[in-house]
Amino acid sequence: MWRKVWETEKIAYGGDYNPEQWPEETWEEDMRLLKLAHIDTLTLNVFSWAALQPSEDEYRFEKLDKIMEMAKRNHMNVCLATSTAAHPAWMAKKYPDILRTDFKGIKRKFGARHNSCPNSPTYRKYSVRLAEKLAERYQNYDNIVGWHIANEYGGECYCENCEKAFRVWLRKRYETLEELNRVWNTSFWGHTFYDWEEIVLPDHRTEHFTEDLTTAQTISLDYRRFNSESILDCFRMEYEAVKKYTPDVPVTTNLMEGAYKALDYRKWGKFMDFISWDNYPSNEDSFSRIAFSHDLMRGVGDGKPFVLMEQTPSAQNWQPVNTLKRPGVMRLWSYQAVAHGADAVLFFQLKRSIGSCEKYHGAVIDHAGHENTRVFREVAELGAELDKLGGEILGASGAAEVALMFDWENWWAIEYSAGPSVYLKYLDEIMKYYTALHEQNIAVDIVGQESNLFGYKVVIAPILYMTKPGVDDRIRKFVQEGGNFVTTFFSGYVDENDLVVIGGYPGRLRDILGIWVEEIDALPESKKNSFVYKGNTYSAGMLCDIMHLEGAKSLAEYQEDFYAGTPVVTCNSFGEGYAYYVGTRSEDAFYKKLIQEICEKQQVYPAAFAPSGVEAVERFRNNEHYLFLLNHNEAGEEILMFRDCVDLLSGRSYQEKETLNLAAKGVAILKWIEE
Ligand code: GLA
Ligand code: ZN
Repeated sequence: MWRKVWETEKIAYGGDYNPEQWPEETWEEDMRLLKLAHIDTLTLNVFSWAALQPSEDEYRFEKLDKIMEMAKRNHMNVCLATSTAAHPAWMAKKYPDILRTDFKGIKRKFGARHNSCPNSPTYRKYSVRLAEKLAERYQNYDNIVGWHIANEYGGECYCENCEKAFRVWLRKRYETLEELNRVWNTSFWGHTFYDWEEIVLPDHRTEHFTEDLTTAQTISLDYRRFNSESILDCFRMEYEAVKKYTPDVPVTTNLMEGAYKALDYRKWGKFMDFISWDNYPSNEDSFSRIAFSHDLMRGVGDGKPFVLMEQTPSAQNWQPVNTLKRPGVMRLWSYQAVAHGADAVLFFQLKRSIGSCEKYHGAVIDHAGHENTRVFREVAELGAELDKLGGEILGASGAAEVALMFDWENWWAIEYSAGPSVYLKYLDEIMKYYTALHEQNIAVDIVGQESNLFGYKVVIAPILYMTKPGVDDRIRKFVQEGGNFVTTFFSGYVDENDLVVIGGYPGRLRDILGIWVEEIDALPESKKNSFVYKGNTYSAGMLCDIMHLEGAKSLAEYQEDFYAGTPVVTCNSFGEGYAYYVGTRSEDAFYKKLIQEICEKQQVYPAAFAPSGVEAVERFRNNEHYLFLLNHNEAGEEILMFRDCVDLLSGRSYQEKETLNLAAKGVAILKWIEE
């Protein structure tokens, strides 16, 4: 079951607001405008560290006090940030350990943001101290609905402090050098370590050719784990600090754009009270790609509340080309977030600054400074609509019977792998399966290798290259008890240390899948093989597994090359269930067909049968059902109602078999009560 994030009566609406960048005289007019836009939640204090702490022992909260008072007076809820995502210049000068060293070994100077070394004693000391001071000072503000720790944590550091901390981390993980040498396979290329102090960070100066190409996969993999955990530790320390004074205020940090590779967000999700993320799709991203990000981010919380912390109301500033959101798109994407579980719709930013790199980033209050803009009107209309909607949908759950497995460590290992093909990108393969499901409006939960698979009917794990301890057992049990499992080429190769599981691929998954993969052929981009599946011919490319059946049935065979006639798609009947294997990369039509068949057989149905381009997503609470219909097309669409219901947005009632006309970029939220 999903849970509500706040005991509010409505979907929270608002976003990042930086009054400290403006003269005080302008604040009240901002409040007037924001209330006019039905905004009720302000994310405050995101980048004020330098202002709050002008020197080592001096703290100045007067301005923030005024801002907090203003928010309260205006009945605004506050998501209070701790400001620790950009350290003050004086601190960098006095304590250079706070500065990062980059991948090339260059020690950075002061500048930009999101740039503190996570293992810097200075950073840890002063960030935690600031978080604690803020919590102490503002603990009695009952309009603080959440803590927003730092901002978009990310990146890496290769400084000496990190190197020392890495050794400590390794000692804890491996205890002995013998074990470390074994796991790191150091007998290869003469890497044996005799002293912990000999260990250095894997970067451009040591093991790496480029950021993605390493000669020592397990060392690089461990560095990624360590880096993600080091940064997570910073979050956790601030978490503890604010909890001392405000134990009941839920804590989050805004996670970055969908699948951010450097941080293992599934590990992070465990330590956050609610999950929040920033949705900035590029012009090329499909609506399925955005839906995927929502599902992925919601999934890292394993049922914890979920909010959209940032989106632009109109344009971004950091894409090469910052196209405006067309009329209706901001509303459509806001409801898409809600459809996928969000209990808040928040913007970056509420007001445009006049200087520096975000002055042309979209905002609710534009440089024009008044309410007579297209963007303001759209924001205000959505605000009014969310007021009307009230608490209807808050905390309602999704209804997925299909799980897609996504794992950060697996991702790192796949893309560090030297061979079989540089074209192999984990996200691309994940998206092929996700899109096939999503375009058919089949709800998906994104789970990790550690997740409980109980209750799902279908589990899909594209490129399950690294099988971490226990995942094969969970899958084995899932299939034995009647589940349907799908995986692909390049699966089951290695263990959690990126060491090959010997005895034949796909390693620990071999008995479940009933196959043995003897070889894997990598094709250049221009070359394709093909296969016939249920009467249609589909392409096979990039990687082609050459395999033997060990109990599985072949569903399709290659048509060309020296392995023509050998299986490419297989199905193994295992216990009460079935395990499918797709030994190559094919095309969208194939994935759609395969997924449809498996889902149908398992009686997994779309949320609704809708025209292509209309996304249908359901949330429910007890016997109340909410079906979101989101028309991403440029033209209106007709949808046949399959039951009596009422559209909460238009207020119109529909009877079964009636037609609902959904305008281009239009949204309907159909409600019915199951008897
Ligand atoms: C990120 C940050 C914000 C802002 C936006 C601009 O999400 O968290 O501070 O820079 O990007 O798109
Ligand atoms: Zn460092």
